[in-house]
Amino acid sequence: MMKAGGVLWVLLRLLLWPEPGTASSLPLVMDSIIQALAELEQKVLVTEASGTASSWILSASNSSPHNSLHQHLLRKTPSHNTMEPDPHSLSPELQALISEVAQHVVQDGQEYGVVLAPDGSTVAVKPLLIGLEAGLQEHNVTNLPSECLAMPCDAGDTLTNIGAIWPGLMDASTNASFTDVGATLPNDKAKTPTTVDRLLAATLARDLGLMFLNSSQTQSPPGLGTEGCWNQLSTRRVFTLLDPKASRLTMAFLNGALDGALLGDHLSRVSKPRPPLSHLLKEYYGAGVAGDPRFRSNFRRQNGAALTSVPTLAQKVWEALVLLQRLEPGHPQLQNMSQEELARVATFATKEFTETFLGCPAILPRCRWGAAPYRGNPRPLRLPLGFLYVHHTYVPAPPCTTFQSCAANMRSMQRFHQNERHWDDIGYSFVVGSDGYVYEGRGWRWVGAHTRGHNSRGFGVAIVGNYTGSLPSDTALNTVRDVLPSCAIRSGHLQPDYKVLGHRQLVHSDCPGDALFNLLRTWPHFAEAEN
Ligand SMILES: *[C@@H]1O[C@H](CO)[C@@H](O)[C@H](O)[C@H]1NC(C)=O
Ligand SMILES: *[C@@H]1O[C@H](CO)[C@@H](O)[C@H](O)[C@H]1NC(C)=O
Ligand SMILES: *[C@@H]1O[C@H](CO)[C@@H](O)[C@H](O)[C@H]1NC(C)=O
Ligand SMILES: *[C@@H]1O[C@H](CO)[C@@H](O)[C@H](O)[C@H]1NC(C)=O
Ligand SMILES: *[C@@H]1O[C@H](CO)[C@@H](O)[C@H](O)[C@H]1NC(C)=O
Repeated sequence: MMKAGGVLWVLLRLLLWPEPGTASSLPLVMDSIIQALAELEQKVLVTEASGTASSWILSASNSSPHNSLHQHLLRKTPSHNTMEPDPHSLSPELQALISEVAQHVVQDGQEYGVVLAPDGSTVAVKPLLIGLEAGLQEHNVTNLPSECLAMPCDAGDTLTNIGAIWPGLMDASTNASFTDVGATLPNDKAKTPTTVDRLLAATLARDLGLMFLNSSQTQSPPGLGTEGCWNQLSTRRVFTLLDPKASRLTMAFLNGALDGALLGDHLSRVSKPRPPLSHLLKEYYGAGVAGDPRFRSNFRRQNGAALTSVPTLAQKVWEALVLLQRLEPGHPQLQNMSQEELARVATFATKEFTETFLGCPAILPRCRWGAAPYRGNPRPLRLPLGFLYVHHTYVPAPPCTTFQSCAANMRSMQRFHQNERHWDDIGYSFVVGSDGYVYEGRGWRWVGAHTRGHNSRGFGVAIVGNYTGSLPSDTALNTVRDVLPSCAIRSGHLQPDYKVLGHRQLVHSDCPGDALFNLLRTWPHFAEAEN
């Protein structure tokens, strides 16, 4: 049986030394990556103690200054006398695929190094594999190098805890979803941070911190969490970003980094022998790891929020920046920055990340479910709106629980609305599946066709299913009641004192069904209809 570490080692070796050659004909989907892992697991025989990906990251890092942190964090394993696996034992098709996803790059509005996962999300491969590697090397902290190479870092007393530097973090308005906010913030003065969380620094914290160094303290870098579109649902070769000015912190990068952190954390805690990585990824991007339907890619944001609290993540971003400053004293963005400035950047980056990503619903854009074009000219909404109108779809009646079925439902509703009702587009602003995702209908900016006479005043949000006699899943309910509105308020689409109404309060209809409507009446923003 092939060992997980060895397989990853070969894979990352391919990532780092991509062979120029024939483009792969394989679609850029997660199943192709899983197939590559499975093939390696079958063909390559190494022991877990032999080299891991880290040795290749180490040797490749000279050519790229950006790898200094990975080099430091992903330890070289001591034993190298076992037979080195040969990456060329992979089929040429899989070799080509692996070199294609070797690096995560955002250039000219296109994103490279990403694949489509079975849940409909797009995932950057590199941070995912880095997380797996860090997890195989055990989830643990490592010491910061002691010598102080950068100018300001020996400037007297500093603090080990970010909460003491930047207590504003304690007021973060997103505490609702994080249970341990403020639990670990002693205010005692001590030295500068001495350790770094290897897993989080390598997957997420470094890039998050770096990307925010350039932005002012009031604005996210452009395109944080930008989505994109695959050229064709059938072949999936080119991924074009919806915001051409997007930073590297795209949705696919955040997804990959979070998946890497979650799976790395899992790997560091499972007892040995560890499961083959192909098996682990198949479960994670399928029905759930070890049969747990909550531990899968569909719920990465909820699981990510549970993995670490806001102050802890801010601390880790800070540590990663301090480490990078030590490793690269000449780094143009880090030169001459004080510990406090770095702490502020880390705090702001963490706040933005949690409020705009972790605390927001995962919305799959129109292109992902295969929407037909809008017919005619859409009318813009005057934002922010004051109402959220809740619907059930009634038909389709069964709740959709997979990307395939939810996307198919979206297409059939759009066909019905366009061809039978003669509307310009699917009527709803958003549709909520029971798969953990929200599907973009007319979206935040355009007037919908969901609540006759009120379409310009509110967003129409439907949950797929017939909720006459039963209730939607807790996830779907939570999305409509809490996550979607709080995120829409933050982004300026919804007024803070918005009101929730059921479709039937404004239009002669049973929608959103007796069961759902009775529950709706208990929601904090529920309002009786005015005449
Ligand atoms: C973490 O590192 C410390 C110090 O190196 C070590 O004593 C401890 O056993 C490690 N914990 C795990 C879970 O690997
Ligand atoms: C944050 O937590 C405090 C104390 O538990 C609570 O009173 C407050 O409403 C919470 N804020 C938000 C935005 O949920
Ligand atoms: C930040 O700004 C520096 C100097 O202006 C530039 O070289 C660097 O590429 C920028 N970094 C990012 C992540 O935008
Ligand atoms: C940092 O400080 C040094 C010495 O004070 C100065 O020469 C250098 O230009 C500064 N670098 C930046 C990026 O401000
Ligand atoms: C919706 O549910 C109700 C109550 O369970 C049932 O009577 C009705 O036939 C269902 N409608 C559809 C279209 O499934």
